[in-house]
Amino acid sequence: MSTAAGDRLGMGDGPPPHAWSQPPRRDGVADRLRDALAKLLLSARMQRVLTTLPLTRGKARREAAALFDLCAGFIYSQILLACIRLDVFALLAERSRTAAEVAALTGLGQEAVTRLFDAAVALRLLSRRSGGRYGLSLRGAALHAQPGLAAMIEHHGRVYRDFEDPLALLRGAGADSKLAGYWAYASDADPTRLGDDAVAAYTALMAASQPLVSSQVLDVYPVAMHRCLLDVGGGDGSFLTAAAARAPRLQLQLFDLPPVVARARDRLAASGLAHRASVHAGSFFSDALPQGADLVSLVRVLHDHDDAEVMQLLRAVRDCLPADGTLLIAEPLAGVSGSEAVADAYFGFYLMAMGRGRPRTEEQLAAMLRAAGYCQIGRLPTRIPMQTSVLVARPCGQTGGV
Ligand SMILES: C[S@@+](CC[C@H](N)C(=O)[O-])C[C@H]1O[C@@H](n2cnc3c(N)ncnc32)[C@H](O)[C@@H]1O
Repeated sequence: MSTAAGDRLGMGDGPPPHAWSQPPRRDGVADRLRDALAKLLLSARMQRVLTTLPLTRGKARREAAALFDLCAGFIYSQILLACIRLDVFALLAERSRTAAEVAALTGLGQEAVTRLFDAAVALRLLSRRSGGRYGLSLRGAALHAQPGLAAMIEHHGRVYRDFEDPLALLRGAGADSKLAGYWAYASDADPTRLGDDAVAAYTALMAASQPLVSSQVLDVYPVAMHRCLLDVGGGDGSFLTAAAARAPRLQLQLFDLPPVVARARDRLAASGLAHRASVHAGSFFSDALPQGADLVSLVRVLHDHDDAEVMQLLRAVRDCLPADGTLLIAEPLAGVSGSEAVADAYFGFYLMAMGRGRPRTEEQLAAMLRAAGYCQIGRLPTRIPMQTSVLVARPCGQTGGV
C-alpha cells in the first residue's frame, strides 16, 4: 500500500485538538467567482439565455433534468419498490413477458402492470421488446444480480416515514425514528440484552448486502498474508466467510452482540468453517475484544457511532492488536469524488435518522486513528468507492510500510 496518504496526513504526530472536524475553507477568488455566477443564475432572463445559446444549451438541459430528478426522487423510489415487491425483475429475468402475462402471474390488473412497466422503462429499469413484451434493461439486470440491493430497497419501505419531516430530523427527532428501532443497538442503552427478534432484520439485511462490500475489500487487501482475522461487529459472519474463501489457512474470529453471534455460529458452521472460527459475544463498548488476531476488521461499523464511541472502539482494537498487527476499516467515506451523494447525502441523513453516527472523510478518520495510537494510515483504492472505501492502519511503533 502506498503510504502517501499517511505522509500527507502527518502520521505519528500527536492528536491535534478536534482534528477530525472539517478544516476551515478560505474565501478565495474561486469562491467569489462561484458566488457571482450563482447570483447571475438567479435571473430568469439569464436562465432563458443559457437554455437557448448553443454552447450552454446542453449543460442547461442536463442541469434541469438533474434538478427534476431530485424533486421526483421519492416517486422514482416507490416505482422501484413496487417492482421489487411484485418480483418483476425475477419474472423478467426468466424471459421477457407482456403486461397481460405478468398481470395473470401477479394478480395485479393489466392496466396497472402496464402503467408500472412504462414507468420502469422510463427509469431504464426495464426495456421494451417486440410484440408488446417487456424485458430487463442493463440497469434492471445489474440490480437483479445483486440481491442485497433488493433487500436495501425493501427496507427503505419501512423507514420512509422517518424522512417525512426532514427539519424535525435536523432538530434531533432521530431517537424516535423507525430507523432507530430497526437498528436496535443504536437506541438501546445496553445492546447486549437485545433478543434475536431485535437483530434478525438488520442482520439479514447486512448479510444480503455484504457481497457488495466484501468483494471490493478482499480485491484490494490480501487477507491471506495474515494468520488470524478478527471481524469486530462482524454480523452473521458473511464477511469472514468471504475472507476464508480467499485465504484457506486464515483463522477466523468474530465479535458481535450475543444474538448476532448465535447467528454467526450457525452460519459459519453451515459454511464448513466451524473448525477455523471462534465467535465472541459482548458489547465492544464494555467487553474486552479477544486477543490473538493479527488483522482486525471494522466493516460498516464506525459510521454507526458518534466520535467519542469511535475513539473508544479504535482504542479497544488497538489494545487487542499485537505489535505487528493491522486494522482494516471498510465503509463509504465522505468527500470521495464521485460518491458524495451516497456518503454525504444518503448516509448523512440516514444515520441522522438512526439517531447516531455520521459518514467521515479519510482525513477525519485518519486524525481519529492517529489520536488512538495508529500510524502508517493509508487508503486503498476500491473499484466502487460508493459501496466502500478501505483504510488500513497499524499500531504506532512498527517499522516498515503497510
Ligand atoms: C451495520 S452492521 C455491520 C455488520 C457487518 N460488519 C457487515 O458489514 O455486514 C453493525 C454491526 O455492529 C454490531 N454492533 C453494534 N453495536 C455493537 C456493540 N456495542 N457491540 C458489539 N457489536 C455491535 C451490530 O450487531 C452489527 O452486526
